[in-house]
Amino acid sequence: PLQPLHDNHGRQFSYLRLSITDVCNFRCHYCLPNGYQGDGEPQPLSLAEIDQIVQAFAATGTRKVRITGGEPVLRRDLVEILRQVKRTQGIESVALTTNGYKLLEHIDAWYEVGLDQLNVSIDSLDPRAFQAITGHDRLQQILAGIDRGLQLGLPIKVNAVLLADQPQQLSEFLHWVKRTPVTLRFIELMETGGQPDYFARHHVSGESIKQQLLQQGWQPLTRGPHAGPAQEFAHPDYQGNIGLIMPYSRHFCSSCNRLRISAAGKLHLCLFGEHGHDLRPLMRAEHQLELQQRLRELLQLKAASHDLHQGNTGAIKHFAMIGG
Ligand code: GTP
Ligand code: 5AD
Ligand code: SF4
Repeated sequence: PLQPLHDNHGRQFSYLRLSITDVCNFRCHYCLPNGYQGDGEPQPLSLAEIDQIVQAFAATGTRKVRITGGEPVLRRDLVEILRQVKRTQGIESVALTTNGYKLLEHIDAWYEVGLDQLNVSIDSLDPRAFQAITGHDRLQQILAGIDRGLQLGLPIKVNAVLLADQPQQLSEFLHWVKRTPVTLRFIELMETGGQPDYFARHHVSGESIKQQLLQQGWQPLTRGPHAGPAQEFAHPDYQGNIGLIMPYSRHFCSSCNRLRISAAGKLHLCLFGEHGHDLRPLMRAEHQLELQQRLRELLQLKAASHDLHQGNTGAIKHFAMIGG
């Protein structure tokens, strides 16, 4: 029987995050304040290369693939990519993370080709604050896209990065999830290479949010065997759930279940810490078995944990490079 990808720290990996472009059209303060057009980076993986890498992961135990960016909708062949990944033997679930810019226009097409889960980034529910953070006046259309996704029955998670200059985030999102059946995840701001001062000024600890939730009657959900690092909470009076992603808390990495492929075809064993291992030359049908073997070998290099605490932001200048 198939031995799934595993590392030297007792963790198994059944979840691939695949970035299909590093270009993004938003300019979120904490990520790409000056925008980014992919200057000088190699062409993103082709549909055929994506097919090879997804097949290799599927053959080594991956069951879920999340398509990320940059902003994945900027690729014209996004629907083709979703369809192809969904058809790959062994892949049970296909997810997409998007800034929501073209959500309303495309969600029906994504659903038709088999999208199983959708994550949308929204850092504020106030249209003006949203525009100030992202550079785009798009909040209402994005919320309409989410409504459409819920109508279709898609499980939706909304990601909000906690920011010290947005003190209303908790109350505003709590109000929203009272009647909106999404999982709202608060993400602690992580320090990336480009922004040490920004980080120091804006970081809010997820622990303080957790204490407020517990005081307000939110209950931690029991963790399934394949749960990733997020902690989830539910409340009987609320239709939505809350998740907390707290990479600075101890033991966060012990439940790590994911691996990442960058838009240029490098394997990143962790969101932080290394420059990535170039697999692109092996993404050809004649190298399929070699590619699988290489994945197994590289997994032995995966560290037990990031060392964000030591101020090591690794090689990641911003998350658009790797899709978070
Ligand atoms: P699910 O697949 O729904 O569990 O979501 P996800 O959290 O894996 O995906 P999503 O793309 O919504 O991730 C949201 C953000 O959470 C990422 O971009 C990161 O900022 C953060 N995050 C998710 N997983 C990890 C992780 O393993 N380590 C760290 N440090 N941050 C993570
Ligand atoms: N810290 C935390 N989250 C970040 N994201 C992007 N950059 C950072 C950062 N430095 C989030 C986005 C999106 C997800 C994919 O990653 O807001 O929700
Ligand atoms: Fe996994 Fe790295 Fe995230 Fe830790 S920081 S959970 S090791 S990807």
